[in-house]
Order: sequence, then structure tokens, then C-alpha cells
Amino acid sequence: MANNEDLFKKIIAHAKEYGFIFQSSEIYDGLSAVYDYGHNGVELKNNIKDYWWKSMVQYHDNIVGLDAAIFMHPKVWKASGHVDAFSDPMIDNKDSKKRYRADVLVEDHIAKIEGKIEKETEKAAKRFGDTFDGEMFLATNPRVSEYQKQVASIKEKLYSALEDNRLADIKNLIEELGIVCPLSGSKNWTDVRHFNLMFSTQLGSLSEEASQIYLRPETAQGIFVNYLNVQKTGRMKIPFGIAQMGKAFRNEIVARQFIFRMREFEQMEMQFFVKPGEELTWFEYWKNERMKWHLNMGIPASEYRFHEHDKLAHYANAAFDIEFNFPMGFKELEGIHSRTDFDLSAHQELSGKKIQYFDPEEEKNYVPYVVETSIGLDRTFLAVLTYAWNEEKLDDGSERVVLRIPPFLAPFKAAILPLVKKDGLPEKALEIFDGLKFDFMCFYEDKDSIGRRYRRQDAIGTPYCITVDHQTLQDGTVTIRERDNMSQDRIEISKIRDIIAHRLKRQ
Ligand code: GAP
Repeated sequence: MANNEDLFKKIIAHAKEYGFIFQSSEIYDGLSAVYDYGHNGVELKNNIKDYWWKSMVQYHDNIVGLDAAIFMHPKVWKASGHVDAFSDPMIDNKDSKKRYRADVLVEDHIAKIEGKIEKETEKAAKRFGDTFDGEMFLATNPRVSEYQKQVASIKEKLYSALEDNRLADIKNLIEELGIVCPLSGSKNWTDVRHFNLMFSTQLGSLSEEASQIYLRPETAQGIFVNYLNVQKTGRMKIPFGIAQMGKAFRNEIVARQFIFRMREFEQMEMQFFVKPGEELTWFEYWKNERMKWHLNMGIPASEYRFHEHDKLAHYANAAFDIEFNFPMGFKELEGIHSRTDFDLSAHQELSGKKIQYFDPEEEKNYVPYVVETSIGLDRTFLAVLTYAWNEEKLDDGSERVVLRIPPFLAPFKAAILPLVKKDGLPEKALEIFDGLKFDFMCFYEDKDSIGRRYRRQDAIGTPYCITVDHQTLQDGTVTIRERDNMSQDRIEISKIRDIIAHRLKRQ
């Protein structure tokens, strides 16, 4: 499924056509990298949230929830390092006036060279047929070796310049590689500068009194600054976790790829507080638990992979991403980080308040270490949509688009459809709808032919269509149609509830 631009376009168009995702403020030509969730989107999104919350909070007796405010004291972001270091290196093209992330321009250049290696390999594979040995070719072909050397040298220069904050060297590299602006084609670049990703605003009504505050760029800090409140009032004993879902805001420079990279998005984060020295054991535990959470949705393991961070942030002593096979290839979906005592210690120092735990077994105070699991809700939504979207050719030659959304996440669990809009069938169908609506999200529709209504339900991923026909009035049976294999069975009305409930169980 990787690198499939066409597929991505189809998913984006489908998400709009069927009320999952709309561009924000579309009637005013939209706001870049900001999206609204429509009537079907909000149901899917809420179901993903519910799955996460239950798995993290309800199923663990040592994890509790929190809902901190988006606005926080500006010192929070000073202590966390976001004021000084949450930035990307940016560069403007003077002709197009377009702003780019300098490192991404170089990475795109690297991707082009890697594309040449792939092309060379494909050509050779065609030429040699069955006797082709890919590994041997990559290791011995002189042209490929030259490309590989170029890639290694550019990466070394870029990453060391980023690490040491040598912005002038990144500009030199862009010039040395002859990188042009994709819009204007010109090499007329400004210097590379840091661009802080936090949005700021003013708190207070009078400008003299107002102070600058930030829209939170992550939910995690709300957890850290509430650590003492929750630990004391919840009488929590280490190890324990605090979970939170909520909006986060980042002024992303490279804001593209639909809901993959947004300026306003939602995170689901859990900070797990542990005894110093035990963090790597817990890190392994949460790495595996989080992967299980993804697989329990019913999406195959082949769509996920772990990616270990090459370079650790200064406060972390272990970090892995869970990547998903999005239409643009494998990309980060969730991060699992062992953050040591960096955040709590930083807040302790700047606030002057002791943020510690008294360990009754050890009989001593310490600043707990933290293992964090941090997942983007919108990216999870995109992962589910990517997996679910299927275009099928049917036996009768027709085509359908079906969303094979894991049933427990589907916006609607069943559609109740009278075959025709007369003869008492709508009344009977509504009676069935009323009997199910308190247990399941159901959909009622009596317009258009039954075939068209089935297609519409396939397109939004409804696992079951229940059709009420004339026989229903005589013997109390309905037709139940299954979304994935389109099989149809005649069952008694009293069986509908159990069938749906059974299908909603997770893997
Ligand atoms: N507290 C740690 C933290 O915020 P992160 O890797 O910057 O770590 C965690 O973000 C997750 O949030 C990512 O794995 C991704 O799923 C999501 N995320 C980050 N930036 C995003 C953006 N601009 N748009 C959508 N999701 C984003």
C-alpha cells in the first residue's frame, strides 16, 4: 500500500463525500492544515477515543484520567524546554515567498537520490530476470555505490549541523546541492532561522496587563504539573499512570498530508511514573502493550513496525515509534519514550515546589522517572481509514467502495432499512430502530432503492444492514446483510441484538 498517491487522493475525497472530514472554513477557501470532523467522522473519532480510554484507564487499576486546560502558565513551557528549543529550522525562498523546513528540503533531495538507486535496481532486475541478486547488485554496482556515498555524506552533514545547531552550514548544504524552490525554481534563499512551533496569544483584556501565553503543543505537560495533585488526592502508589486526551497545537511549517500533520490536532497521552532504575523494564512493557492495542483493532501486524530513534533527545534514555503503513509509506503513529525525571525535575526547579514521591518501601523521597506513551488521535483515524478503504469489483461486474472499519469502531453498527416506503414497512422498521438505539448507534433510511442504500452503508463502514420487507410483517423475520462478504440471512428480529453484539467484540 506504500507510496500510493492515488490511493491517498481517493481516501481524502471519500472522507469528504461521506461526511468524515471537511477542510476547516471551506466556504472561505479553507484554512491550511486545519480540519473539521463531520457527522460520520465524529462517531469514528469518539469510538477510537473510547477504545483508548477504556484500555488505558478503565482496564488498569493504577492509571487514572485527567483533563487539564489548554492554557497553562507560560513558565510551564519554559521549564519543559519548549520556549527555547521547540523549533524547526526554516528557510524562505525570496522569489516565491514560500517558507520551507530547511532539513526537509535536504531530506527531499536525499529521497530523489534514493529514487535513482531504486530505478537502477528495477532496470537491472528486468535485465537479469530470475538470476537477479538484489543484494549483490546494491553492493557492487559502481553507479549505485556512488549514489549511496552521496546519500551518506549528505546525511552526515545535515544531521551533524542539526545536532550542533549550525544553521549557516545547513544553508551552505542547500546551496552546495543546488536545491531549488519547488514553486519558483529559484535558488534565491534567505538564511536558515529557527521557527518556534508554539502558537501564542494574549491573556487579559488590556494590552498593558496582558501576558503572552501559549496554546499547548502537547498534552503531557498538563499531566506533569498535576502530578502532585493527582498522586496525593488519588492516593496513588508508584508505579502508576495519568492519562489524558485533548487538543494540541503546533504551527507546523510543512503542513501537508491531510490529517497526518495538522496545526490543531488531538493527542492521547499517558505518563507512567516509576521508581528510578526501573524505567527500562516499564519501557519494554509499554512498548509491547501499545503494539497489542493496535493489533487488537484487527488491523494486520504487517501494517505496523517499530522504529528505534537513532538520536535520543537529551532527556530520554530510550525511544521507539510505532509506525503505520500510511498511503505515503511507513510513518510515525505513536511514540513511546523513557523521559527519565527530566520534566518533573525541571518543574520542581522552576516552580520551587518539591515534586517528589515518598516511597514507603525504600523509606525515601525521589523524583519519579517517567515512561510516556503518546499517540495522535487524528493519525490513528487516518490509519483506520487507510486500512479500511477498499475498492472492489463484484461478480456482476459492478464496483463498490467499502470501508472495512473494525466493527467496534464503525460510526454506525446497523442500518435499519424498510424495503419500500409504504405498506407499514417504515413503521415496523422504526419499531426495530427504537428497540436497538439505546444499545447501538443505528441508522434509519427509507429513501432510494435498497441496492443504493446498501452501497451507502458500505461506504461508511456499517457492519450490518437490516432489511424489513413484507414477510417481516407476517413472521417477524428480517434480512441481515453483512458488510464484508455481502451475505444475506433471514433471522428473527429477536436475534438481531446478539448478532450485532457478537460482531462488536474486539480481536
Ligand atoms: N508528549 C510527546 C509528544 O508530543 P510527539 O512525537 O511530538 O511527542 C506524539 O507527538 C504524537 O502526536 C505523534 O506520534 C503523532 O501521532 C501526533 N502528532 C504530533 N504532531 C502532529 C501533527 N502536527 N498533526 C497530527 N498529529 C501529530
